[in-house]
Amino acid sequence: MIRAAITGIHGWVPDYVLSNQELEKMVDTTDEWIMTRTGIKERHILKGKDQGTSVIGTQAVLGLLEKTGTKPEEVDMLICATVTPDMLFPATANIISHNCGIKNAFSFDMNAACSGLLYALVTGSKFVESGTHKKVIVVGADKMSSIVDYTDRATCVIFGDGGGAFLLEPTTEEFGIMDSMMHTDGSGMIHLHQKAGGSMRPPTHETIDAREHYIYQEGQAVFKFAVTNMADVAVAIMDKNNLKSEDVAWLVPHQANMRIIEATARRMGISKDQVMINIERFGNTTSGTLPLCVWEWEKQLRKGDNIILAAFGGGFTWGSIWLKWAYDPS
Ligand code: UT7
Repeated sequence: MIRAAITGIHGWVPDYVLSNQELEKMVDTTDEWIMTRTGIKERHILKGKDQGTSVIGTQAVLGLLEKTGTKPEEVDMLICATVTPDMLFPATANIISHNCGIKNAFSFDMNAACSGLLYALVTGSKFVESGTHKKVIVVGADKMSSIVDYTDRATCVIFGDGGGAFLLEPTTEEFGIMDSMMHTDGSGMIHLHQKAGGSMRPPTHETIDAREHYIYQEGQAVFKFAVTNMADVAVAIMDKNNLKSEDVAWLVPHQANMRIIEATARRMGISKDQVMINIERFGNTTSGTLPLCVWEWEKQLRKGDNIILAAFGGGFTWGSIWLKWAYDPS
């Protein structure tokens, strides 16, 4: 049986740091409120003219190719999870492939909001498992600052820009993506969406004046669904595979709110030092959160570690992946 193993990870964030103190000058908020309610201290922002999500994805993929010794022409699939594509078309994945000299790949984008990386990882893994594709890159990247309303204090404090890229390769050993549980509930759309800019409400002066090209989020409603569903799906994948708390080395949770992360870890019965948390420095980078965590923790991971990835996001979408880490630090 062929499994899809993660054989490399690389992350990237832009240099500019937007601190809570700077946000205090932009909207009616305080560092204390943001830290207590979300756990976020700062986030990185991609500045500059004509700089889109592909900048983040390109930097992540170039770093990944270099550190794994992969030639661009060897890559045969690239998927980019994002809700902030450079343009509605072509796919940001195509732009990243072009920028990185990846000429032999089948590239496409995937939009599942904050669960996008999970969706893309599961999709990519199926192509590897089928034996048709040998080197698959899965990128999760978002320039959330492009759709954040910096006059809306309830959302602008949460989001940041950044992302990362995984390399998936086949293995016949018991490593890699072992199982996944993915969910969708379209009725959640009313609580979290971007009203205009798509085919239903194309851009007009009216949509711009009404600030409809920004994230619309009913924070409390989303919080309630997120805290329940992310914890449920993380516990469900453990139960399905007879994994006890002591079998799990790491939880990699989507970084939306520290309180959601803590609730998930509590339900799984694991301690906070087994949870990858970098929300304080990066905020919620949507498709970027999971690769940014794994990238930062890579040196602490050991071959055979059981890792649970879990996320919840717009759609609603949510899910979990159980993977067995495939390599020791070099
Ligand atoms: O990643 C994809 C999915 N997204 C999520 O998982 C996000 C889930 N939601 C959340 O994380 C939280 O709901 C938020 C962080 C967005 C908001 O936190 P909250 O504890 O749910 O606050 P709230 O919206 O219930 O607002 C409580 C109070 C309100 O004031 P009143 O009406 O009680 O007087 C808000 O106006 O806090 C006020 N408030 C703020 N005050 C200072 C909202 N934002 C701010 C702010 N600074 N930035």
